[in-house]
Amino acid sequence: MKRIMITGALGQIGSELTIKLRDIYGADNVLATDIRENDSDAAKGGPFSILDVMDGKKMASLAENHKADTIIHMAALLSATAEANPVFAWNLNMGGLMNALETAREQKCQFFTPSSIGAFGPSTPKDLTPQDTVQRPTTMYGVNKVAGELLADYYYHRFAVDTRGLRFPGLISYVAPPGGGTTDYAVEIYYEAIKNGRYTSYIEQGTYMDMMYMPDALDAIINLMEASPEKLIHRNSFNVSAMSFSPEEISAEIKKHITGFEMSYDVDPIRQSIADSWPNSIDSSAAKEEWGFKAKYDLSSMSIDMLNKLKAKLG
Ligand code: SER
Repeated sequence: MKRIMITGALGQIGSELTIKLRDIYGADNVLATDIRENDSDAAKGGPFSILDVMDGKKMASLAENHKADTIIHMAALLSATAEANPVFAWNLNMGGLMNALETAREQKCQFFTPSSIGAFGPSTPKDLTPQDTVQRPTTMYGVNKVAGELLADYYYHRFAVDTRGLRFPGLISYVAPPGGGTTDYAVEIYYEAIKNGRYTSYIEQGTYMDMMYMPDALDAIINLMEASPEKLIHRNSFNVSAMSFSPEEISAEIKKHITGFEMSYDVDPIRQSIADSWPNSIDSSAAKEEWGFKAKYDLSSMSIDMLNKLKAKLG
């Protein structure tokens, strides 16, 4: 990876990934793009262009002018937003992906796009969900993710585009907030714990979902993209998870650091039904075997770091 173009660079993952890629590969080698601009380090720390991923022509010309050899396509709607706007989600998630894959094909770029635990559904085995298993999701987001995995594999087999992907769990970070995901409660809880000493969870007790701390997610993207291709049996996409917990377990962890922290519940039926359709915990062994995936943070070490970083950020 030397000349990288990233879409959705100001989103939840992109805001941190852009900075990390610039640190590793050099600021000028990473073109950040997003539909909006802001004053963040990701927008201001190197080349930046406004790009609506629905505009395939502009995407191709930006990649060409940048002499991109790698496309990292992050722009997409998350699960709850997609469920609220299914037609828009299909158009944006699939249209943007198709434009990005076409750009990668035309300009012979390596390609990354994330999939998700949302690519699984109620008929998928729920515990230690295998790498290769039933994928019949019941959400628009999941339908997009499965179609996206198949499309990216298609571009690999049909056009030899070096496509690679990860099925991310809920990602937790203190930098950019997620927007419209089902796993967002596991980020909000830290902010509310520090600001108000309490949190009302829209996810019911006893609901387990996979999660990962952002530094591990960024390392996973970079390590997968750097992995030698002959080692990869799978491509789109690898199961990766660092931990699986329920709302009461993250609450108990936070209580160890914030005395008097209180958790209550006001369940949102839509996000709860999305969560119920996803695995309790996925098996990341293919990622470990094929390119050495390893997560550094568990619930305890992540909570310590999140609370310290957020206390500093929120003053
Ligand atoms: N964090 C995502 C969501 O909740 C899962 O991929 O939508």
